[in-house]
Amino acid sequence: MKPKSHIVNLPVYQPGKPIEDVKRELGLDEVIKLASNENPYGASPKAKEAIISELENISIYPDGGAVELTADLASFLGVNTNQIIFGCGSDEIIALLTRAFFVPGDETIMADQTFSVYKSNADIEGAVSIEVPLVNGTHDLDAMLAKVNDRTKIIWVCNPNNPTGTILPEAELTAFLDKVPAHVMVVLDEAYCEYVTDPAYPNSIPYLAKYPNVVILRTFSKIYGLASLRIGYGIGQPEVIKLINQVREPFNTTRVAQAAAKAALKDQEYIDSCRTANSNGIVQLQGEFDRLGLEYFPAHGNFIMVDVRKPAGEIFEALLRKGVIIRAGHHKYPTHIRVTVGSQEQNKAFIHALEQVLKEQEALVQ
Ligand SMILES: Cc1ncc(COP(=O)(O)O)c(C=O)c1O
Repeated sequence: MKPKSHIVNLPVYQPGKPIEDVKRELGLDEVIKLASNENPYGASPKAKEAIISELENISIYPDGGAVELTADLASFLGVNTNQIIFGCGSDEIIALLTRAFFVPGDETIMADQTFSVYKSNADIEGAVSIEVPLVNGTHDLDAMLAKVNDRTKIIWVCNPNNPTGTILPEAELTAFLDKVPAHVMVVLDEAYCEYVTDPAYPNSIPYLAKYPNVVILRTFSKIYGLASLRIGYGIGQPEVIKLINQVREPFNTTRVAQAAAKAALKDQEYIDSCRTANSNGIVQLQGEFDRLGLEYFPAHGNFIMVDVRKPAGEIFEALLRKGVIIRAGHHKYPTHIRVTVGSQEQNKAFIHALEQVLKEQEALVQ
């Protein structure tokens, strides 16, 4: 058997460690997972009701085009239905974009560091990833622009950026979009947009009318609390959406996911309450980091990247032994950890564990 040569050495994606694994491996009863930027409050009760009702129909294939959900979302966003495509998470939209647009040797530009799925999919398609260092944890749009050439197909802009949590303000982003050549697609990944409260953060939907090369990615996995159901979406020009639809599997989202997303979208009061709770959580965690003298990037999503000034892998392992799962292993930030903003109690437990771990590390040094 002979696989494609360029995929042979690709790494397998390493997700946040599952709670069940940590409990089993370390013999712990209580484990808090603040590693995958999930919503600690879960989904809207209305989404849960919709899931239960939809169980009646699980023997029937879903509507591959998610027509009803598309109509609801289009009217919610103020776009046309032919501008939306749903995927098995926004991860799948990233994969579909690369499948539809890249041929081996194409170039694609992204920040270093950003969401790793852009590069992994580019690798699969044999495209070359040009990674442009962040400045103060933020995309360096001028430097990214300087890397554009005839081979460039897609520029990925993650706003807020995962893992740093920083945002690009409206003025900076539009100045960049004004300069990107028409042959280059700009993907604005806004997986965490619903959490952002900073007024400088752009409402990107009107960009679609002005910049035909923009595609926006969003998801029901984060503030909507439906990560396990795998449903996210892309918004763009009808021609681009049609192309991505052509390479989509026929039944890529489930009935249950579509029903849950429809109900979750209608319950904006619940989303508002999650946004407020998250903002309070950011204030709580930042206050604790200040008390501990730890520096962090300004957080705009539902996670914070903080410099623990120790090898992040060691802090990760030590926190794990105390039953707290966070994220480390960011090659550009060897002493930073990324922690999801949890509930008030989870944040408290995380800080308690972190403080103990840092004290233990200090004691080892002395
Ligand atoms: C920036 C970013 N984009 C996209 C995704 C993918 O989310 P999903 O596939 O669950 O919609 C994530 C998930 O962590 C993310 O952080």
